[in-house]
Amino acid sequence: MAATRPSGLDEQFYLPADKFFPGNSHIGLTFDDVTLATLYSEILPRDTQLEAELAEGLHLNIPVVSADMDTVTEARMAIAMALNGGLGLIHYNMPERQQLSEVSHVKYHVPGLIQEPIKVTPDQLIGDVIKIIEERKFAFSTFPVVDEKGKLVGLLSGHVVKPRYGKRKVAEAMTPRAQVHTVNKTELGKDPIARADKFFSERPGIHKLLVVDDDDHLHGLFTMSDVERISQERRAQFKPARDSQFRLVCGAAVSATRNAFGELDRERILTHVGGLVERGVDTVAVSTAHGHSKGVGDTVKMLRDAFPKLPIIAGNVTSAAGVDFLADCGADTIKVGQGPGSICTTRVVAGVGIPQMTALYICSRAAAKKKVSILADGGITKSGDIVKALTLAGAVICGGLFAGCTEAPGEVMEIGGKLYKRYRGMGSLAAMKAGSAARYGHTSNPAQKVAPEGVEALKEVSTSADGVLAQLIGGIQSGMGYLGAANLNQLREKARFIRVSSAGMREAAPHDVVELKTGN
Ligand code: XMP
Repeated sequence: MAATRPSGLDEQFYLPADKFFPGNSHIGLTFDDVTLATLYSEILPRDTQLEAELAEGLHLNIPVVSADMDTVTEARMAIAMALNGGLGLIHYNMPERQQLSEVSHVKYHVPGLIQEPIKVTPDQLIGDVIKIIEERKFAFSTFPVVDEKGKLVGLLSGHVVKPRYGKRKVAEAMTPRAQVHTVNKTELGKDPIARADKFFSERPGIHKLLVVDDDDHLHGLFTMSDVERISQERRAQFKPARDSQFRLVCGAAVSATRNAFGELDRERILTHVGGLVERGVDTVAVSTAHGHSKGVGDTVKMLRDAFPKLPIIAGNVTSAAGVDFLADCGADTIKVGQGPGSICTTRVVAGVGIPQMTALYICSRAAAKKKVSILADGGITKSGDIVKALTLAGAVICGGLFAGCTEAPGEVMEIGGKLYKRYRGMGSLAAMKAGSAARYGHTSNPAQKVAPEGVEALKEVSTSADGVLAQLIGGIQSGMGYLGAANLNQLREKARFIRVSSAGMREAAPHDVVELKTGN
């Protein structure tokens, strides 16, 4: 028992949130201003649980959300996030129809099933297929062959996609339809991977299974290596985040759009959110820079009335009154953060915003009273920041950390021998012109003068979202191990804080060495 007995000294220096933050009420604190004290632990990092219940019906297996930004989250990122147990919020800087289709893409994504495989036609030359592989840098060389109506006519196996056959037509070299293994899409059932897994076990040597409909139109392709990888993933600690129908979870951001008369465009918002709900969206986020405002409140109220069961995220706020307001309007989860983001200039331009840890403390206490959850949105640059944020918030939203990933929208650029992707604030001039002006209370009208509240920047290309998340989750689990916290509730209960001096901050990062390799 001595291991857990209070020492007196510790309690004098290391304070729980309810003593620490009110004791520092004269100053706004952010992640690097504080550090967490360790505690006696019997918890190994690998045994910690990271499940987060953000709202009734919105359950994540890891507390990480990718930001609703046009250089961060579209379907590809949302799929990667959900497969890792988190959530992606599809941004709204695109036509409404496209956002609906991005959501459908996530909801109907069957991991392991390539829904739109690259196809070839019977009259193409093998040499042309080789050229396409080289130009588009495909890492595979087996292709379904379809006729002009999309009907399956064969399979071009990688074994024959060789320069020596370059002058032959695909039709001459392909495996004919009668010998291609297929399954009707109606036979896939609730667990398509299990179905494909069984198929591959029963037919040694067959590595591809094509999905067709009753008219033999191609609807997808399973490869054995993908199916094996997914089967392994199923045994992994953090399961994909799924809805009650076993589909991946997906969120979508919406804005408080106004009509030509400057009034809330109720009909347009309701029709669009209705479409999102039809496609199975798990939550909508009413995303703006100033959530404690009439337009956002009215939008949340209207959505709550129209969709009583839909989990609604709204924001952003940094005050207790802002949390109360949005919760009273019907929001379940409230985004906290004004100006902490890596591409934000709100604090510089408008002179407003609160350093993130102080904002999170204030909002977390207001949220607890209203029985809603909060999301720590912006300013997170390392896993340690996430651990600190999770002592107060239900989950975190990250933009910059994912913007360099393969799954983020946008092209890779080479500058000075290094690879970059574009990352821009939704309040940057370019993003506002592309549609996000409403988020900042402006219109997209070029004639109207607006002050951008975000910058356009570059992020060095990183690994896949899987790789980034693996690092982040490892860090969160380490932090929980140091605090003896088996789950996120215990992390919140056990956290004790102390301020860090600027010398202490320097001490916290590698120093007095020549760094050869970063931690990643
Ligand atoms: P990080 O630090 O993860 O922040 O890159 C992402 C969050 O920043 C917010 N955001 C903005 N804030 N001006 C702002 O003041 C902007 O142009 C802007 N764009 C995004 C947003 O909350 C996001 O999740």
